[in-house]
Amino acid sequence: MVNKKRVSIIGSTGFIGKQTLNVVDKQPWFKIELLSCCRNIKELKKQISKYKPSNIYIECKKAREKFKHYNIKYKFNIIEKKSELNDFVSSDSNDILVASSSGISSIDTVIAALKKKKKICVASKEIFLLYGKEIMKISKKFNNKIIPIDSEHSGVFQLLESNKVEDVKKVYITASGGPFYGRKIKDLSKIKKQDALNHPTWKMGDKITIDSATLMNKGIEIIEAATIFNISSDKICPIIDKKSKIHSIVEFIDGNYLFCASINDMRIPISYALNYPDKINFKSKKIPNFLETLSLSEINEKDHKAFRLVRYALKKGGSTIAVLNAANNIAVNEFLEGRIKFVDILNVVEKVIKNHAPIYNYKLNKILYIYKKTENITRKICNKL
Ligand SMILES: NC(=O)c1ccc[n+]([C@@H]2O[C@H](COP(=O)([O-])OP(=O)(O)OC[C@H]3O[C@@H](n4cnc5c(N)ncnc54)[C@H](OP(=O)(O)O)[C@@H]3O)[C@@H](O)[C@H]2O)c1
Repeated sequence: MVNKKRVSIIGSTGFIGKQTLNVVDKQPWFKIELLSCCRNIKELKKQISKYKPSNIYIECKKAREKFKHYNIKYKFNIIEKKSELNDFVSSDSNDILVASSSGISSIDTVIAALKKKKKICVASKEIFLLYGKEIMKISKKFNNKIIPIDSEHSGVFQLLESNKVEDVKKVYITASGGPFYGRKIKDLSKIKKQDALNHPTWKMGDKITIDSATLMNKGIEIIEAATIFNISSDKICPIIDKKSKIHSIVEFIDGNYLFCASINDMRIPISYALNYPDKINFKSKKIPNFLETLSLSEINEKDHKAFRLVRYALKKGGSTIAVLNAANNIAVNEFLEGRIKFVDILNVVEKVIKNHAPIYNYKLNKILYIYKKTENITRKICNKL
């Protein structure tokens, strides 16, 4: 029998983590080797009983200690330290790393596994804003591709597989527009958390759903695409597909436009990444007349603060991009916790990035320090609102 491919998932209790497990349910040639979460130990316990991993990792110490009192008959190892987690995913006991935790927490784990030539499937887009250029340098040095899970980037990755980056004229990544697209800022002052979490086309975790409502998610994705594919951010544009069926379009210098479209089911890009370079028969729900549902409309970036902020951060460059990410992370969290208004999110981010004096050459420790400092500055600004 052919050996099963062993998979470690960082953030297995989140939306993408669960979708990955759902793909593995249908594809018995994968075996789950490591599951991990931040603090949702109840969900993790259920997953352990079903998937029987050899190792687990719980980021939050309090949750980890509480978890040790659970009575689980099956034997497995609880990894205590981040460094041990990084050693495990890059060891001979693992083949594939799925980075699907929210925020930047998976960065050192991705780097460790990348260097050991493990297959790297990444949903955690924020790591590219923190340290993207360095990650891509490592990817090049160790000749190990990063396979994106984000549907738009999975699309671009596929479209560039048989084409040259130098021949790209423009890349369009689609946005549904989120729940408030087309509404005036002044009409959004009383938006409640539940309204903002009501995404029209995708079911996702809370942070990314709020980012979709402010359009910051699409801005972040412009930076993610520029970094992963080494394409100038000026060539990457957002475009509206209200139904989220077309994920990305690449326009080439010879006048051809290639599209990547599928029904909006994250298991499709996840299955693509896990099985890359093989194509696997994947049964998702059927949409009658799928091709007739495809439609696009232009987006005017100047009308949307999220894009203005992202273009500003890209122009400033260096640490400004990580600072944008840190400020946005905290501002979204403050909104989710009911401490600031929806319309304050991007105003707070603007204040933070415009006060930041960027630095351009840094190691991971330095940028992590700036990231933490920015988080504190952002919390203080939010407290004063
Ligand atoms: N959802 C989508 O459709 C989608 C599409 C493309 C890309 N993405 C990206 O994928 C990532 C995850 O999104 P999601 O929607 O799945 O988020 P989510 O549902 O909020 O799940 C986040 C996961 O990360 C874990 N986590 C959080 N902080 C952690 C830490 N410090 N260390 C280890 N694990 C940690 C969480 O554990 P607990 O459960 O214990 O909190 C949970 O398992 C994000 O970067 C997002 O932008 C998502």
